[in-house]
Amino acid sequence: MLIRNNSEIKENQVTDYQDYQKRREFIKTAAGLGLAALSGSLIQPASAKILKSPYSTSEKLTDYEDITSYNNFYEFGTSKSDPKRYAKAMKTSPWTVSVEGHCEKPGKYNLEDLLKPLTVEERIYRFRCVEGWSMVIPWLGVPLADVIKRMKPTSRAKFVYFETLADPKQMRAIKHQILDWPYVEGLRMDEALHPLTILATGLYGKDLLNQNGAPLRLVVPWKYGFKSIKSIVKIRFVESQPMNTWRKSSQDEYGFYANVNPDVPHPRWSQRRERVIGSGFFSRKKKTRLFNGYEDQVASLYSGMDLGKNF
Ligand code: MTE
Repeated sequence: MLIRNNSEIKENQVTDYQDYQKRREFIKTAAGLGLAALSGSLIQPASAKILKSPYSTSEKLTDYEDITSYNNFYEFGTSKSDPKRYAKAMKTSPWTVSVEGHCEKPGKYNLEDLLKPLTVEERIYRFRCVEGWSMVIPWLGVPLADVIKRMKPTSRAKFVYFETLADPKQMRAIKHQILDWPYVEGLRMDEALHPLTILATGLYGKDLLNQNGAPLRLVVPWKYGFKSIKSIVKIRFVESQPMNTWRKSSQDEYGFYANVNPDVPHPRWSQRRERVIGSGFFSRKKKTRLFNGYEDQVASLYSGMDLGKNF
C-alpha cells in the first residue's frame, strides 16, 4: 500500500519548528566539533522526533546524490547538472515571502516567522516529472494548509498563486528568455488545502540545497514535477485561475492541472511509463499510475471532470 492510515499519527512523533531548529543547531555543533560519524550521516528524523507521516510511501528511496544532482531549475540553466553547479550563487538567508491578495493577514514574512508555529513532518513521496522519470524523496516540510489557514483567506480566494525569485544577479540563466520569468505556478484552493500538499524546507533530514529550491518549495505529489515551484518569494490568494509558466510557454503541451495520468499523453511522448532514477538507465521502466498512485486520496477533487481536456 502506498499510504498508511491517517489515524496512525502519534503525538510523540511530532515536533514543532522550534524543536526542529534546535535539532539542526545540534547537528551543526556536532559537525563543528568534528563528530564525523554523526555529521557524516544523514540523520533520519525518526531518531529526532520529526513526524513520520502516515502519508509516506514505503518504496525504496532515491539516493541523496541523485536527488541533489539531477535537477530542473531553469533559472540556473537547462541542463540537469546546471542547478547543482550554479545555484550556490543564490542567497537563501534571510528570506522573505510576500503574502498578498484576498486574505486577512497579508504582509512580508521572513521565513522563520512564516513557519515557526508549524509542525515539520517527514513526507516520503513519489515524485514524477513530466519528462518521464521519477524519484522517491523523503521531504521535510509543513502542510501548505497550515500556512494558508494562518493567513485567513477570504471567501474570494479561489486559487493560490506562487512566484519564484527572479534575480539576474543570482540566477545566471535569467538573462536568457528560456521561460517567461519569474517562474509562476498555481493551485485551486481545494488542491492547496489538501493534506498531501506541502511546502518543503528539507530532504533526507537536512535543509534543502539550493538546487532543490531552497529555502521553500511546493510539493504536490499527485501532479507532475513542474507544479512544484522552487524558491518561493510570493504567495497570492486570487479569484481566478492563475497562469503557470509551462502553460505560458506551450499551452498545447502543459495544462493548469498537470495531474499525473498514464492515459493522457504529452503531445510529443507517452506518459505510460517512467524511468526510476537510480535503477540504471537500461533497467525496465515502471508503469505510471493515475494521480501518481495517490488516486484514493485525490480522485474526488476531480470527480465529473474530463481529465483529458483538463490536463
Ligand atoms: N521551479 C522553478 N522556479 N524553476 C524551474 O525550472 N522546474 C520544475 C520544478 N520547479 C522548476 C521549478 C520542474 S520541471 C521539476 S521536474 C521540478 O522542479 C524538479 O525538482 P527537483 O530538481 O528538486 O527534482
